[in-house]
Amino acid sequence: MPSFARVGIVGTGAMGAGIAQIAAQAGAAVLLFDAREGAADAAKARLVETWGKLAEKGKLTPEAARTAGERVATAASTADLRDCDLVVEAIVEDLDVKRRVFREIEAAVSPDCVLATNTSSLSVTTIAAACEKPARVAGYHFFNPVPLMRVVEVIAGARTDPAVCDRLAAFAAEMGHRAVRCGDSPGFIVNHAGRGFGTEALQIVAAEGAATFADVDRALRDQVGFRLGPFELMDLTGLDVSQPVMESMHRQFHGEPRFRPSWLLRQRLDAGLLGRKAGEGFYRHGGAGQEPVP
Ligand code: NAI
Repeated sequence: MPSFARVGIVGTGAMGAGIAQIAAQAGAAVLLFDAREGAADAAKARLVETWGKLAEKGKLTPEAARTAGERVATAASTADLRDCDLVVEAIVEDLDVKRRVFREIEAAVSPDCVLATNTSSLSVTTIAAACEKPARVAGYHFFNPVPLMRVVEVIAGARTDPAVCDRLAAFAAEMGHRAVRCGDSPGFIVNHAGRGFGTEALQIVAAEGAATFADVDRALRDQVGFRLGPFELMDLTGLDVSQPVMESMHRQFHGEPRFRPSWLLRQRLDAGLLGRKAGEGFYRHGGAGQEPVP
């Protein structure tokens, strides 16, 4: 029996679906909710397809693939989350929206249910402050793609009960992930330490015009040893996700230049070049390899 037997996922995009996958594989019953009509059902269908492929490749037994699929259900509203003992939120990176959704979730669940946010950069404390019981709220920051990136930041807000973080860390281990504990500072560990590479890479290309983004990626991948260059990573994350994260960190660190956002990211975003999810971002995806989009 997993530490959390019934897990609600609110927001079933790239991250929510990934968290749902590992939670179901760990034996939890998973309930998916998304505000966009049809999104939760589509996420469930993709999960079942993924488990089928894993079984074909021999990475999961057919029995495990089948039972994982049977553990996932979809919810029509947040009210359906009432029996969950953990709800993980992975919606849009917008503080006001997250606070509103947390209030809504708290109104639906039992007093013991743990509430977690997958926010990349927003204050866990400020999100928790929207709730009547902020002690039960923590950050649970997974990385993309969730099943392969086996680290999760477990973030204590100013009023989070440490026992809540202990439970989340234990559940992470059951899902095959290593929990890294940290406090509630903007960007936590990975986005604080790592974002600077993205913002500096954007400066080299957009402000200094010193290199193309493909060459910056190549240099950092081949020479510095990154698995993905900063622009490749922005395409994977989604420019619609990266931009608000950069803006929020810049704001929270009072305009610290290392975190300054760039017009180039904004422009690509406005042009609908969102990254892999749109087929095009800094690169054109699909087919063989990736081509830079000038
Ligand atoms: P996404 O755009 O793929 O998915 C977000 C989902 O939330 C969409 O399906 C959308 O319909 C739904 N949604 C939006 N507002 C909602 C609401 N009010 N109620 C219910 N559902 C709502 O985004 P992604 O990439 O999954 O990111 C989600 C969160 O995870 C963000 O906070 C992001 O900063 C964080 N994150 C993203 C990572 C990435 O690499 N993409 C990595 C780690 C964290």
